[in-house]
Amino acid sequence: MNLERELADIVGDDHVLTDPSVTASYTTDWTGRFHADPGAVVRPGTTEQLAAVVRVCAAHGVAMVAQGGNTGLVGGSTPRVDEGLQVVLSTRRLTDLGEVDTVAREVTAGAGVPVSSVQRAAKAAGLRYGVDLASRDSATIGGTVATNAGGLRVVRHGTTRAQVRGLQYVLADGRVVDRLAAPPQDNAGLDLTGLLVGSEGTLAIVTAARLRLVPPETTAGEVTLIGCRDMTEALSLIPPRGVRAAEVMLASGLSLVRRVGGLAQPLEREHPVYLLLETDELPDLPDDIDAAVDPALWAYREQHTEAIATEAGARGTVVHKLDVSVPLERLGAFVDALAAATTPYDVFVFGHIAMGNLHVNVLGATDDEVDGRVLTLVAQHGGSIAAEHGIGIAKARWLPLTRSAAEIDLLRAVKAAFDPHGLLNPGVMLPG
Ligand code: FAD
Ligand code: MLT
Ligand code: ZN
Repeated sequence: MNLERELADIVGDDHVLTDPSVTASYTTDWTGRFHADPGAVVRPGTTEQLAAVVRVCAAHGVAMVAQGGNTGLVGGSTPRVDEGLQVVLSTRRLTDLGEVDTVAREVTAGAGVPVSSVQRAAKAAGLRYGVDLASRDSATIGGTVATNAGGLRVVRHGTTRAQVRGLQYVLADGRVVDRLAAPPQDNAGLDLTGLLVGSEGTLAIVTAARLRLVPPETTAGEVTLIGCRDMTEALSLIPPRGVRAAEVMLASGLSLVRRVGGLAQPLEREHPVYLLLETDELPDLPDDIDAAVDPALWAYREQHTEAIATEAGARGTVVHKLDVSVPLERLGAFVDALAAATTPYDVFVFGHIAMGNLHVNVLGATDDEVDGRVLTLVAQHGGSIAAEHGIGIAKARWLPLTRSAAEIDLLRAVKAAFDPHGLLNPGVMLPG
């Protein structure tokens, strides 16, 4: 039987999309850098439907690209040009959100539930979800699990991995594994749930997650923007405790955000580096420091991604988003060396400083040569070429820079164990 007909028999005609004017938002990534036309976009409404779709695709030998909110920044959620016929498996209709368990402090969310919906449900129950990111209204629980998203509260609560208590997922042959109700302590065999977190849709398709919630903060907190000489000074001003968020931006990004967003000069003077802190109490700062305290100062940091995308669009180009981390003691040296690695392009650097995680956004590059230069620099500084966004297809070829041949052999063996026919997200994560 025809593939499209079989898929429609499972999910209904309305949920198999093939018209390019309808599929466009599923087939181009958030940055506009990656695009390909798939065979179809399929939108199952239940785990059972998703499993049946996987079985049909597997029977036809058709590759599947899992997609949540399509806010990923490494080209992992859209089809790719050189992998033949692919079905985009959208999880956006998997929106069941269970009751918050206020005793266990947990909630179960379908893969398609946006992060902000979990945040709201947690808040209504007097709790919080520990992950927050500017894409909160579109990014899904499944996508954030698959990428092990970090975000703005990572210094306080860790990455998504630290929030995942259990998962339900569909294997490449269509079997469903349900570990949602796993007890808090469970050493019975290898931690397969942990392995799936951060697997970028290459091992299985996540259909639901059991998430840990955290108690509310006891005070409103203080948001302080601080002008700094350099990265080293910014690092030295992060208090040893009571830190809810610690973010960094360089002057070029701050001035772009001001221009695009029409925002006022936030401090008395301009500075090479800006540190944004959210802390339990006002931080202890030197007397002569240029700083301001106001929750609205978050806008200067949160608007970076949108402002850079807007600027790229205005210049008729796309942004190369490099999300890297280096050990804290190498952060200053790394940023100093970046200028040479990114010449002659415009570069905007910002990120989650307490984790050594910088987002290096390059504008104007027409191929990925500059990616190689920056990522090689990261390797030379003992860092990681993918701190929180994943490898996707954007960085697969660069993985050997920071993972050994032995590690890559193991990654390939794990992939083959989960997906022997290479049908789940081909081209993602592993170098070709
Ligand atoms: P998608 O983009 O749809 O998919 C991402 C990857 O996960 C793909 O490889 C896809 O195949 C896979 N996948 C998706 N759903 C599933 C599933 N159910 N099962 C298996 N695999 C799946 N990221 C951060 O880490 N921190 C940030 O602070 C942050 N801020 C952002 C701000 C903005 C404005 C934007 C646009 C993006 C930001 N991101 C950030 C990146 C992005 O939001 C995250 O990577 C997020 O986790 C992606 O979720 P998604 O639902 O959009 O996933
Ligand atoms: C952020 O921290 O704002 C994100 O990871 C998004 C980005 O890198 O643009
Ligand atoms: Zn980030």
